[in-house]
Amino acid sequence: MKQAGVTGLEGVIAADTFLSYVNGSEGKLVYRGHWAKELALHHSFEEAAWLLWKGRLPDASELKACREQLAEGRRLTPALKTLLDAIPSQVPLMSAVMSAVAASNPGEESSAWPPRFHEAIRITAMLPTIIAYRYHQISGTHWPVQADEQQEHAAYYLHALFGHPASEAHTRVLNAYMILAMEHGLNASTFAARVVSSTESDMYSAVGAAMGAMKGPLHGGAPSGVITLLEKIGSKEQAEPVMREMLENGERLMGFGHRIYKTRDPRAEALREVTQALAGEDKWFDLAIHTEQAAIRLLAEYKPGRQLFTNVEFYAAALMRSVHMPIMLFTPTFTAARVVGWTAHILEQSENNRIFRPQSNYLGSLPSE
Ligand code: CMC
Repeated sequence: MKQAGVTGLEGVIAADTFLSYVNGSEGKLVYRGHWAKELALHHSFEEAAWLLWKGRLPDASELKACREQLAEGRRLTPALKTLLDAIPSQVPLMSAVMSAVAASNPGEESSAWPPRFHEAIRITAMLPTIIAYRYHQISGTHWPVQADEQQEHAAYYLHALFGHPASEAHTRVLNAYMILAMEHGLNASTFAARVVSSTESDMYSAVGAAMGAMKGPLHGGAPSGVITLLEKIGSKEQAEPVMREMLENGERLMGFGHRIYKTRDPRAEALREVTQALAGEDKWFDLAIHTEQAAIRLLAEYKPGRQLFTNVEFYAAALMRSVHMPIMLFTPTFTAARVVGWTAHILEQSENNRIFRPQSNYLGSLPSE
């Protein structure tokens, strides 16, 4: 029986953080004192990640060290290859990646509690390789062992996925997306990571748990829902009638609405700008802009007062299309970016840890005394 009691921890503050500031009513997103949008437009993945992990942008020698450690962590080790080869091909991509990450714990004492910075870099580095390897396994194509591990993070990821060096424009677009998707306060997956970490479990397990939350359609699974929506709409003329029918049937429009943002998600704003400036306008982008306008009108009509606006996933989907990312890679790509936020939160949680242990409100009957 559905109860209208305490649901979704809305408005509950469950942790103090220095990592990000999310202001939902004003549409502001700040990573450690820097506007996320500025970081996305003017900095690299490595610089933004260092900022979140360490609290300030890296100097030249720190950036070099960060790049070297990422390059080292990208190598597909024999153990990892054996692990991925053993996962049956019908296991969904995200489940396989999640299992591989959780099982990558080297098992040394040093890899348990407290979590360490080098583990954050290692997990961040290995994710693109794991995703690309699994993608090639599923697609029946050959693993491009020639992907230069010294490249920038976004460039390496695209090279490993598609088997050829990425264009400058695609690298910049993906770099910007990955920075904007890196961190976002106590969203469901980050909360899951902090909860697991608070039990003094290892970082690999906490990231694995976060990935389980990430794959759900109401969180990281939404961008593929946006493409399904845009494909269903097909042309500008169909935007209004198709979405009207969906709302009449009680369906949700993917890429709209947010628990925190009650105005336009600033990440959607930035992604729209980046995609438009760097990738140029294409069919998808044009359709996306038209669909967004129609959706906002219809949501105001069908869901008055709910303040439903465009969220990050909407333009993320258009951006993914512009770098030719197949749908099955949308959520894994979001994951490859958000892992920075998860690991930064896990490190932060360990600095002042207390196990998460809320209570539930029992609604059932009691036995007679
Ligand atoms: N389309 C239609 N109606 C919606 C939508 C939507 N996208 N989002 C919320 N509503 C309605 C919902 O039906 C409800 O209506 P009513 O009051 O009549 O029951 C009302 O708005 C409030 O919805 P809620 O589910 O209580 O809101 P929430 O804060 O729990 O959910 C959300 C937030 C993101 C899960 C939700 O807006 C949604 O399902 N959006 C579509 C999926 C999506 O785009 N997800 C990506 C989120 S951004 C990624 C991230 O930062 O994690």
